[in-house]
Amino acid sequence: MNSKIDFSGNGMRFGVADSDLQVIGEARCIEAEQSQPTMWSAFAQKNGLCPPNVGSYRYDRWEEDADLMVSLGVKHYRTSISWARVLTERDTPNEKALKWYENFFKVLRAREILIYPTLYHWELPNRVAQEGGWRNRATVNRFLTHCKTVDDFLGDYVEEYFVLNEPSCAALFGYHRGIHAPGEKNLSGALEASHNLLLAQGLAIRELVGRRRKTSTVVNIQPAYAESETPLDAEARRRSDEYWNRWFLDPLFLGSYPSEMVSLYGDAMPAFAAEDMNVIRAGELLNSLGLNYYNGEVVFADASTELGYNRRAGGGPTNDLGWPVFVPPSYPSGLYDALREVFFRYQNAGLKKIYITETGLAKAPDSRTPLQDTARVQFLKDHLVQAAAAIRSGVPLDAFFVWSFCDSFEWQDGHKPESQFGLVCVDPVTAERTPKMSALWYADVMKNRSFQM
Ligand code: FCB
Repeated sequence: MNSKIDFSGNGMRFGVADSDLQVIGEARCIEAEQSQPTMWSAFAQKNGLCPPNVGSYRYDRWEEDADLMVSLGVKHYRTSISWARVLTERDTPNEKALKWYENFFKVLRAREILIYPTLYHWELPNRVAQEGGWRNRATVNRFLTHCKTVDDFLGDYVEEYFVLNEPSCAALFGYHRGIHAPGEKNLSGALEASHNLLLAQGLAIRELVGRRRKTSTVVNIQPAYAESETPLDAEARRRSDEYWNRWFLDPLFLGSYPSEMVSLYGDAMPAFAAEDMNVIRAGELLNSLGLNYYNGEVVFADASTELGYNRRAGGGPTNDLGWPVFVPPSYPSGLYDALREVFFRYQNAGLKKIYITETGLAKAPDSRTPLQDTARVQFLKDHLVQAAAAIRSGVPLDAFFVWSFCDSFEWQDGHKPESQFGLVCVDPVTAERTPKMSALWYADVMKNRSFQM
């Protein structure tokens, strides 16, 4: 195909994304600014995983990264501001950390790069995690102290805030499946954690909007596809959608949890005060909603599991020869479906516009000299085609941030070559930065607002 995909007719902003803990190098922060250790170092230690010690060596290389962004033509940059750095153990401002952010942000703004910081990209101080983390309602007010402190010191550099990154991963991976820090495995605890995350989000949105700041928040959206047309598989699809997506979006925009899921959870569902929902339902105050999209999932009914459904790993349906015949999770069209589903479900509840705040591909390069990453370029092209189609179908999609600006610490997957999402390669030993082929290709997209398939 040789068609041109053109975004020049709309206001689409193209940018890049990362998060503080994944790039900064936690050990260096602790040494230089006495920041608090996050729950991720304790989690890594306990499970024999790679800790976030070095990240992308950003702490000492931020000027070089700002230069690199300028040379690639980046104008929109999503990052995060870490709670574990901003607040001391006594919940007072850590001046050294705030100064570091100020220096970095000043340089970015002077170079006309707009900054979109996330206020919680999973950088929970370990001390807070040990006191129950997001299961503990007291965490909500501590988070608000972090948000206010950030805005007091850094608010003037901010284009738009994202309050949370992916509360579903924070609550469900962290407290239900145990694959993210703090590594707990308890449905009831996870529901408590999600409620407190939503409450914290609602309070922060109200605080920031009250300060006249443009405010948004980020969910990861995972469209579900039933493996077959049977009513049981259709029910599995609904459960998957409600467990991952609607559990976090319905309260924000509609002021209620999905009722059939509440019945399914039964006794595991925590009691909470009815007024909480008045705080949580803050969707119409938002300037935009950020969606992170990586894939969808094919699901089928499975009475042996806790929630009565299971996901088909890899394949999806096959013909009798074992050939995959329809594999939505690896289809970029999942992005189109997700954008439409979310926009049309919540547009009458105050949703104004959507940003894609993350999408990207983890893959080791095909060759090192030059740094060729053909599959990443193809992935981005395929997803931008779907983004363009969603815009044509009426979705107000205003921004597209690639995950990620540079190779970094990929949570439980550490620094393996195959877990790297960066447009820019970071040498794990020397920290040297080299733009991959995808970075050069994306620099053209940012400049021309169009590309050839
Ligand atoms: C998302 C996270 C981000 C990154 C990508 C690959 O779930 O928000 O930090 O790790 O996945």
